[in-house]
Amino acid sequence: MKNIPSKRFKKIIIATDNHGHYICKKTEAAFFKFVEEWQPDIRIHLGDNFDLSVLREGATQSDKMGNIMLDLESGMSFLERYSPDYWLWGNHDDRILRFLGDMSKRLKEEERPSKAVTSLEEVGAFMMLKEIKKLVASKGIKEIRWGVEQGVLKLGNQSFVHGYAAGMYATKKMAEVYGQVMHGHNHTGDVYQFANHSQSVAVCVPSLCDNGALDYQRGQISKTRHKSGWGLGVLDKLTGNFYHGLAVKMGENFFIQEPKVL
Ligand SMILES: [Fe+2]
Ligand SMILES: [Fe+2]
Repeated sequence: MKNIPSKRFKKIIIATDNHGHYICKKTEAAFFKFVEEWQPDIRIHLGDNFDLSVLREGATQSDKMGNIMLDLESGMSFLERYSPDYWLWGNHDDRILRFLGDMSKRLKEEERPSKAVTSLEEVGAFMMLKEIKKLVASKGIKEIRWGVEQGVLKLGNQSFVHGYAAGMYATKKMAEVYGQVMHGHNHTGDVYQFANHSQSVAVCVPSLCDNGALDYQRGQISKTRHKSGWGLGVLDKLTGNFYHGLAVKMGENFFIQEPKVL
């Protein structure tokens, strides 16, 4: 990539769906090795940095048995090491806000929760959110909160979202809604080329997690389509054009498509 004039073309790396302690250690090691070698200009996280099954609405007994400390520590240490420029919250990250409701809006050091704290779980979740905020502030990470409308990062002609559809045609759906987009959430590596004049594509970035370890998905056929890996791309600052690449784990190796500009 040394031939790319860095002022005009920006290398972008995209991590997503590490799901706290469900991170795939092998993928994580390969990812950071690649980041070190490739030297991206912009780092994006597309969400589900934490798993937080414990806070899931209607959590089952087995969800509640999950190791929340390990989940948090793993998620925090990934964020700290990766230090993304942008972190788009995923539906799993958002669980903490949903769990806390109004309390989550009160985050300044001097402020206290506006409603009575009635459980140790709430205290724990509130403290957890404060720790996350502290890390985000110290690293200068720009947060983009989960949500169909607000959860969009736009760089040039390219949009990035966590992902808001399920099933076989999720990437097609994302294309219909957001146009030229890269998204996480579905863990697949799907690429959807849609019919339009500007040659736009929608891409699902593979996950950094160990997909086999996500117990709550064991009955879903779509799980067989899941892939481990990460995303990358080059943005032309002059025209706004962006072209993607993907890194996908197959067996013990990672196969990396890397965009180059001539
Ligand atoms: Fe996910
Ligand atoms: Fe998700």
